[in-house]
Amino acid sequence: MLQWKRRVYKSVCITFCLVIMLTVFQRGTSPGLLFTQSSMDSEELLSTMKRDTYPVPNGFWAAKTVEQVTTASVTDAYPTEWDVNSINCTANSNLTNLDWFKTMEPNFKQFLLYRHCRYFPMIINNPQKCSGDIELLIVVKSIITQHDRRDVIRKTWGKEKEVNGKKIRTVFLLGTAMKEEERANYQKLLEFENQIYGDILQWNFLDSFFNLTLKEVHFLKWMTIYCQHVRYVFKGDDDVFVSPSNIFDFLDDNSTPDLFVGDVLYKARPIRKKENKYYIPSSLYSKNLYPPYAGGGGFIMAGSLVKRLFKASETLDLYPIDDVFLGMCLEVIQVKPILHEGFKTFGIVKNKNSKMNKEPCFYRSMLVVHKLLPAELLQMWELVHSNLTCSRKINML
Ligand SMILES: *[C@@H]1O[C@H](CO)[C@@H](O)[C@H](O)[C@H]1NC(C)=O
Ligand SMILES: *[C@@H]1O[C@H](CO)[C@@H](O)[C@H](O)[C@H]1NC(C)=O
Ligand SMILES: *[C@@H]1O[C@H](CO)[C@@H](O)[C@H](O)[C@H]1NC(C)=O
Ligand SMILES: *[C@@H]1O[C@H](CO)[C@@H](O)[C@H](O)[C@H]1NC(C)=O
Repeated sequence: MLQWKRRVYKSVCITFCLVIMLTVFQRGTSPGLLFTQSSMDSEELLSTMKRDTYPVPNGFWAAKTVEQVTTASVTDAYPTEWDVNSINCTANSNLTNLDWFKTMEPNFKQFLLYRHCRYFPMIINNPQKCSGDIELLIVVKSIITQHDRRDVIRKTWGKEKEVNGKKIRTVFLLGTAMKEEERANYQKLLEFENQIYGDILQWNFLDSFFNLTLKEVHFLKWMTIYCQHVRYVFKGDDDVFVSPSNIFDFLDDNSTPDLFVGDVLYKARPIRKKENKYYIPSSLYSKNLYPPYAGGGGFIMAGSLVKRLFKASETLDLYPIDDVFLGMCLEVIQVKPILHEGFKTFGIVKNKNSKMNKEPCFYRSMLVVHKLLPAELLQMWELVHSNLTCSRKINML
């Protein structure tokens, strides 16, 4: 009898110990889990493609960091103006005989052939943009044909002004038109537009999807030269709704030197389905996971990060997805991007037809929301800034 009791007692003890060990082990191996849990529940519903999760062993990202940019090894000598004045870029013929290259899709071939060409000359510059004390620089990715979007942005969230003594300035980042006839017709118009508003930055590279990363590195270099002392940078697409006053409220309470905040994906996997816009062949990126990165629809960072990100970018090969590339740069400088609920760069709810996506009371409490056409943006802006009565209080900040 006693023997039997002792045996039961023993097995209960062992089971108890096992449960404790398992719990400790699980927590230990997924350090991000506790942090991201609350946001993941609702956020995960938004995008199936980009929000796949995957357990990451401890220190996975830290271990594979290749080149650590040490401040000592890089001299702080930067050009004082844009120092690239000619296009000196020929296709990399080394690749053409390689088997893995031959099997690539044409757009990836194009990307790889010109991947080594880093910087291009400027066609339109506004070097004086950051003179004075700038609180927030709004940086918008744009293309030459979409002047209507630039127009609405200038009238709404991109309006250059002063809020409680804090200056807002805006620039649009552009390459050259994809089609020959567009180049002929639109270039003069763009120059005229710039004469009126003085907010265009244009470089002499093709404005293609895979060249968005070029736009990213050109912007980092340009900022390092002309805008190092801006306090904060908002960078985003030209089809989002942004609330600068909510951004300022947020910054009042959350300012840190390494601030980088947006709709952050912590455990996104490269997409291997060929028909997807974000498809990446494993011969180009073989790892199962991306480093944490913010969706390019819109994010905020401290101005002091720009120079460090620029340095980091020069240690990396260009990657075809600009958001992911910036995530790689953040990983190099060991800055962790922060997820915030006020950034809805994948839409407010997943269902595109849901009324929620057009609900002004939601917009009023957000920082950034994807995706609005110019007319919708203007209408939403006016609604949000009218005497709006909201039945429920939504508090995001
Ligand atoms: C282009 O680069 C090559 C080698 O890097 C150099 O010899 C050549 O002078 C450059 N051409 C121009 C126009 O800058
Ligand atoms: C092509 O290969 C040669 C020899 O290995 C190398 O010096 C050169 O930099 C390569 N070209 C490019 C564009 O990477
Ligand atoms: C990027 O722009 C350069 C310069 O215009 C061009 O040669 C290259 O083909 C473009 N790359 C892609 C992938 O479109
Ligand atoms: C909002 O309401 C105030 C008073 O409640 C009124 O004076 C103002 O004109 C209204 N503004 C608009 C845009 O309706």
